[in-house]
Amino acid sequence: MAAVPDIRRIGLIGYGAAGRSCAALLAAETDCRVMVLTRRPPADGIPERVAFSADLDALIAWKPDAIIEAASADAFAEMVPDCLDSGIDVVPASVGALQSPEMAARIHAICARSGARLIIPAGAVGGLDYIAAAALTGNIAVTYTSRKPPAAWAGELAALDLADTARTEPVTLFEGSAPEAAKLYPRNLNAGLTIALAAGFERTRVRVIADPGVTRNTHEIAITGAAGDAVLRFENRASPDNPKTSAITALSLVATALRRYAPVGT
Ligand SMILES: NC(=O)c1ccc[n+]([C@@H]2O[C@H](COP(=O)([O-])OP(=O)(O)OC[C@H]3O[C@@H](n4cnc5c(N)ncnc54)[C@H](O)[C@@H]3O)[C@@H](O)[C@H]2O)c1
Repeated sequence: MAAVPDIRRIGLIGYGAAGRSCAALLAAETDCRVMVLTRRPPADGIPERVAFSADLDALIAWKPDAIIEAASADAFAEMVPDCLDSGIDVVPASVGALQSPEMAARIHAICARSGARLIIPAGAVGGLDYIAAAALTGNIAVTYTSRKPPAAWAGELAALDLADTARTEPVTLFEGSAPEAAKLYPRNLNAGLTIALAAGFERTRVRVIADPGVTRNTHEIAITGAAGDAVLRFENRASPDNPKTSAITALSLVATALRRYAPVGT
């Protein structure tokens, strides 16, 4: 690994709920400089040590050590391949974009050519290290269950005429593979795809439940296999700016990006 630079340069795509939190966390590190790619510079002031650009070429020319994508599956498709092609590692929030086999194959080919890495963060969940280790046995089955309050699925429940039912009992909105889930719900099912990347797509089942019994976005991961069994449960607080996104997401993105520099680390 190269020596840790005096100044750590991190690019950031997106300045919504997760992007703003990432910028604030990075700007709090005095040896970090941040350049944010956003369509419009923020109206509410520019934090110290943070620069803004509306242009991907300018971000790449700034030569960041790594880029955090915190925008959308569309932004991932538009920009992440070019970042990786320029040899820059990317830590993506919109992991669900990899549900597309074409996109996944393109990313693999670009990384093999440029030497850059797409570093998948745990995001809204955790335990990927355990899942990836257990998957090495070849004998593992993972069920990921997403439970959110019915308000988070108001549109979907109304379309199915199940809004009244979901007031009193859990309603299963989806059961199937992680790529199907991410394709159907690109804003909500990044975690399912993240888990499937660690476990293997064919070994991962996803359930999506609108549950009047939960007040927080809740993720349950049940793992059974040759190495043992585990049950993980995460009850996340929502980001103050976007109830669909957990506050832990930005923390995970920044922790993952900063881990690249650690001479000793997990
Ligand atoms: N990996 C995880 O566990 C996890 C968890 C929560 C959210 N997410 C994902 O993180 C991403 C960001 O979430 P958020 O809550 O901050 O969203 P947000 O809607 O609050 O903010 C996204 C920002 O990105 C900008 N943006 C979107 N597409 C763009 C493009 N093509 N070019 C430039 N800017 C663009 C938007 O204008 C907005 O400012 C989403 O894709 C979301 O699904 C991932």
